[in-house]
Amino acid sequence: MSDFEPFYDVNRTYEDNYAQGPFGAFAQALAEDGAASAASADSASAAAQTETFLGQPVNLAFGIPAGPLLNSRYTTAAFRMGFDLATYKTVRSRAWGCNPFPNVLAVHPKSADGSLTPGSAELDEGVLADTNYDLPISISNSFGVPSQDPDVWQPDMKAAIAAAGPGQVLVPSFQGSRVEGMSEDDYIADHATTARLIKETGAKLMVMNTSCPNEGHNRLLCHNPLLVGRITEAVKQAIGDTPLMIKLAYIPSDDDLELMVRSTVGRGTVQGFSTINTISARLVDKDGNQALPGAGRDRSGVCGNAIRGAGLDMVARLAAIREKTGLDFAINGVGGVVSPADYAAYKKAGADSVMSATGAMWDAELAHKIKVSL
Ligand SMILES: Cc1cc2nc3c(=O)[nH]c(=O)nc-3n(C[C@H](O)[C@H](O)[C@H](O)COP(=O)(O)O)c2cc1C
Repeated sequence: MSDFEPFYDVNRTYEDNYAQGPFGAFAQALAEDGAASAASADSASAAAQTETFLGQPVNLAFGIPAGPLLNSRYTTAAFRMGFDLATYKTVRSRAWGCNPFPNVLAVHPKSADGSLTPGSAELDEGVLADTNYDLPISISNSFGVPSQDPDVWQPDMKAAIAAAGPGQVLVPSFQGSRVEGMSEDDYIADHATTARLIKETGAKLMVMNTSCPNEGHNRLLCHNPLLVGRITEAVKQAIGDTPLMIKLAYIPSDDDLELMVRSTVGRGTVQGFSTINTISARLVDKDGNQALPGAGRDRSGVCGNAIRGAGLDMVARLAAIREKTGLDFAINGVGGVVSPADYAAYKKAGADSVMSATGAMWDAELAHKIKVSL
């Protein structure tokens, strides 16, 4: 692995990645003259805008979810590398700091295929985490959803949108921020404010993240479907007919998942779900000690190869709820896509579109490989 350089460099701080990245093949794609037209020609020949993503025509509804694409340089490089959906990392209504370095570690579940099952004892007992980035890749990420001030991200998001080639779509991601002294109404209003700020950039659609621990330690907003319902009503008032997708973590209960669908899609406020986000695990080093330094970092979210089974399960259950309720919504499948076969498995499970964060970080050619496989 020594000659390989992921476009987000896990050995540098988030701030250095933001200022200096992307690296590796993505840096080359940005530097090369004519790379954009070459990439869009490549995309167009693979599937000339035959698919849609929340109503927008796309070459192939495959791309990168919120996370490793920190700003317009990253999203533009992703477009040039043939990822037709590029998600701009989650933004907030205000500047927000990043967790201390390191923010990424490799994780090594015990099972032979490297998978982690939601609810399994291993998640609480401890999963080995270190800097041995073996393939197929599983990692943990611990950033705390940092954000620039809107005065910085709004013009940059505008530039990101403008850099999309034919059949490519920039997908903005946002979330609410809970700060000391905020009432529930303030918290709801913060989501609506952020959505409005995104709409001002000219975005044609957006994804609202409800699946990071933003409700206090390890409590996720998506585990409270009724609150998500109230928030999406406020967001809908702010953005009108702009399509809204909700990012969900793994939700074990079918009843809770159906309540989420009915509280959002059922009320006309949401047009799709993107799932899954990371799965929380206790991370330990080889001596059994806490792997990530600092208070509140005993647990962290795992992504990549380890969580593909859980992601496929969520997508299949959402597709079954879509069938059962007759409600119309899009499903964006995420979690552990590291190969063309994984992309195909998500499509078979009922996903309308598919994205890869960890898999794309460790294989900048993933979109090209999937297009060639079709
Ligand atoms: C480096 C990194 C940063 C991430 N940051 C965010 C984020 O800001 N917002 C979000 O909704 N998800 C974030 N995610 C989660 C991904 O969008 C995705 O749901 C998760 O990683 C599972 O997909 P994967 O197995 O392809 O990585 C991040 C993931 C990674 C790897």
